[in-house]
Amino acid sequence: MSILITGGAGYIGSHVLKQLLEDTEHHIIVVDNLSTGHQDTLDTLRAMRSFEFIALDLKEFDRVDNLFKEYKVETIIHFAASIVVPESVANPLKYYMNNTVNTTNLINCAIKHGVKKFIFSSTAAVYGEPISLPKEGIDESYPTNPINPYGMSKLMSERVLQDAQKAHSEFKYVIFRYFNVAGADIHYQDEKLEPRIGQSFPNATHLIKIAAECAVGKREKMYIFGEDFDTHDGTGVRDYIHVDDLANAHIKAIEYLEHNASDIFNVGYGEGYSVKEVIETMKKVTNNDFTVNIAPRRAGDPAMLISNNAKIKTKMNWQPKYDTLELIINSAYAWEKKLG
Ligand code: UD1
Repeated sequence: MSILITGGAGYIGSHVLKQLLEDTEHHIIVVDNLSTGHQDTLDTLRAMRSFEFIALDLKEFDRVDNLFKEYKVETIIHFAASIVVPESVANPLKYYMNNTVNTTNLINCAIKHGVKKFIFSSTAAVYGEPISLPKEGIDESYPTNPINPYGMSKLMSERVLQDAQKAHSEFKYVIFRYFNVAGADIHYQDEKLEPRIGQSFPNATHLIKIAAECAVGKREKMYIFGEDFDTHDGTGVRDYIHVDDLANAHIKAIEYLEHNASDIFNVGYGEGYSVKEVIETMKKVTNNDFTVNIAPRRAGDPAMLISNNAKIKTKMNWQPKYDTLELIINSAYAWEKKLG
């Protein structure tokens, strides 16, 4: 029985692949079109243990179908997607095609070929702009109301999965709604943090990646998008989660679905940090200073997004290991230095 990882050469997919190779003996098949994923990442991970790699775009429906004829796939972990929010506003059809249409086809193939488990990477963007944030954070029953095509393309895929499951009881899913994923492979060499893999997305838009680029001197300055939010220091607050903790939730989900019904889980730490706090921490832990200017709010940015993670902790017994902002930032910085 095999596990199929789509988008396994990408940022989050590669961290899940790493854990599967290190901690399990499953036969792994990675598919990726290498549009934003990296061959180098796959080469690094292949040194741990072998796996199959098929260069494939999920829009190639015939090749996707053939893949299931060739391999007996038991579990799919589906990451391949477009993820840039502003791009999704400018080019919504790219998002509905790449994310919703290709995911629907993948689910169709999965059911046709008897795949038992489907683990889907969704996003906190499905919650849109929460009107009033509950004190204990957003739980999974909070109303969904995406405010951009990226979030909607993911929410539509969630719905396809749920409806498909209702009609095919032998097919089960776990949907993960990620909060703000950051950091890189926690790996020490000679007691020094030396990530082997990390985020290599060109033209980064993520806060921690951009701040790390400033700290290593790749970028001259950065901007705080909005200083007039209704938050403790006026800047946007997010729930940052280390990519290795997020990856571990996927490993747990495989086992979880052996004995439990399909379900949706938030994955975050349930703690918020403001843009200013993130930038200050980057400066402090790396001992670097850089210029930060204030810019207007970015369209569609909610003031605050913090998860309630009680469900994944109790039902899946998931426990974060790297839940300090310093460690997230240190690993992002170490990786950025390594990228050169
Ligand atoms: C969004 C999505 C998330 C998606 C990610 C992909 C929502 C609710 N979330 O996260 O699902 O995976 O984009 O790109 O749509 N900021 C600055 N200066 C910068 C960069 C960011 O001030 O140079 C601020 C933003 O305004 C925000 C915070 O930092 O308040 C985090 O931004 P970012 O890292 O881009 O993630 P989100 O927009 O929260």
